[in-house]
Amino acid sequence: MLLLSVAMVCVLAAVQCNPETDAFKWQGVVPDVLSQPPNQMLKVVYDDRMMIMNGAIVTPTQVKNTPTVEWPAEPDSFYTLAMVDPDAPSRANPKLREFKHWLVVNIPGNNVAKGDTLAEYVGAGPPKDTGLHRYVFLVYAQPKKLTFSGSRVNNKSRRSRTKFHIRQFAEHHRLGQPIAGAFFMAEYDEYVPILSKQLSGR
Ligand SMILES: *[C@@H]1O[C@H](CO)[C@@H](O)[C@H](O)[C@H]1NC(C)=O
Repeated sequence: MLLLSVAMVCVLAAVQCNPETDAFKWQGVVPDVLSQPPNQMLKVVYDDRMMIMNGAIVTPTQVKNTPTVEWPAEPDSFYTLAMVDPDAPSRANPKLREFKHWLVVNIPGNNVAKGDTLAEYVGAGPPKDTGLHRYVFLVYAQPKKLTFSGSRVNNKSRRSRTKFHIRQFAEHHRLGQPIAGAFFMAEYDEYVPILSKQLSGR
């Protein structure tokens, strides 16, 4: 339904466009997170059965487990995978933009498990009454294997997760534009207090 309506706008506007990635503009991920939409849709699948369609609304419960992510990868290249929420603590007042949900670097090909996890995956945790948040997955092709000092953040910690800026991170490490991306939206449900407790280290 979402893709259909974006596709219709494309036809009406008589411009060349890509209904899969134009949702990035329609939902403001461009310009809030990126300066241009990724060229390709990233395949993000939860629990082997729920594939993320751009802009789809899901529940935090549905995305609590680490998803599988696939992109067209060169086996000898290294990639960076990120998931961020620009709507922290809310889209209306994003003073903690962005919350870093997941960050893995030096991924050989698309073998995410073999990458260097700088921040372990934590699912969506939009606070109560803060409306829909956008959760954006991006993959960048690295120019080479990179060196990252500093400590890693596990899934029991909020440390260094807020006020992250994937655009700055990409510029700093010369990653260029993302080669693929996807995003979903979610608002509060009963999984959020469970995640909050996990992130407080208890
Ligand atoms: C947290 O990370 C550990 C491995 O680092 C993993 O075994 C565990 O399932 C994760 N917990 C959640 C709730 O994702």
